[in-house]
Amino acid sequence: MKARATERLPAEAVERAAALLRAGRLVAFPTETVYGLGADARDGAAVAAVFAAKGRPSFNPLIAHFHAAEAAFREVVADGRARQLAARFWPGPLTLVLPRHAASRIDPLTTAGADTVAVRVPSHPLAQRLLRAVDGPVAAPSANRSGAVSPTTAAHVLEGLDGRVDAVIDGGACAVGVESTVLDLSGPVAVLLRPGGVAAEAIEREIGPLAHPPGTGHAAPSGGAPLPSPGMLLSHYAPTLPVRLDAVSVAADEALLAFGPPLAGAGACWNLSEAGDTTEAASRLFSGLRHLDSEGRRLGLRRIAAMPVPERGLGAAVNDRLRRAAAPRD
Ligand code: TXA
Ligand code: MG
Repeated sequence: MKARATERLPAEAVERAAALLRAGRLVAFPTETVYGLGADARDGAAVAAVFAAKGRPSFNPLIAHFHAAEAAFREVVADGRARQLAARFWPGPLTLVLPRHAASRIDPLTTAGADTVAVRVPSHPLAQRLLRAVDGPVAAPSANRSGAVSPTTAAHVLEGLDGRVDAVIDGGACAVGVESTVLDLSGPVAVLLRPGGVAAEAIEREIGPLAHPPGTGHAAPSGGAPLPSPGMLLSHYAPTLPVRLDAVSVAADEALLAFGPPLAGAGACWNLSEAGDTTEAASRLFSGLRHLDSEGRRLGLRRIAAMPVPERGLGAAVNDRLRRAAAPRD
């Protein structure tokens, strides 16, 4: 691991961050979803350092980030569906898994050896400026230790990765707050690999019904059973306190993750959205899990109890992350 402390860069220091990335170093940067841990996607040694810094298994591929769709579509084979979704949702919180282009220079470690590449064009102005300045694909997983809660501020990044990455650009809090939606378009059936910042309903309005991988609580897809996204198999987003789902009552030794009017009696409380808005809930989810985890431990509480969140809109992404936070740990 890196011996030196992580350099904190203000928003103005985009050129410095781009120079570090071009030199094969690791830079954490804000996107509208969560902070990413960036490396030059063509540089196998830099990408290997990302896996090491996160403690991430190298069979779990990374997303390649670009400033514009034209740049992304040079690395993959984009069909009509991909171009339609890019026109509608990019820049924004949508990742498309597509067949790798024969001329792509993305390192096989980025894709964990797969013949597909996950590509994304984020909308955050700092991410846009950085990716434009680098002028090449930037591989970036969420900037947290593998299995931990994703970071939505620069301080969260440093909690997990200080000294393990070369620099972090501070762009404040991320507006969307959950990761991008990952959609597999590498075969004839569009498969929702991970619910995220673009609601599945909005994608379905563009290209019709989506299939869901097996084991995600949805009906089996009609066009054969695709493999789930490699990263979706793990317990993930885990605070240190255990999480209890669908709470309809709460005990004094529990911290409450509320949605709508809160239950009375908890030892600590964080409301995802008093108004019952699923988009607001997504933006407050990871900071809430971090807050209740540290408050709960400080107060000697046993568990985080999470009230139910409806599946509509970004509620599907919130519930997906909560199910993973509550999954058995290995
Ligand atoms: O919002 C986001 O997506 C953030 C920001 C930084 O862009 N990134 C992020 O990356 O969440 P990560 O590595 O934490 O999650 C990427 C997901 C993983 O579940 C991974 O398995 C999946 O995308 N993935 C990446 N490449 C893939 C591929 N070629 N085929 C299938 N799944 C892939
Ligand atoms: Mg992640």
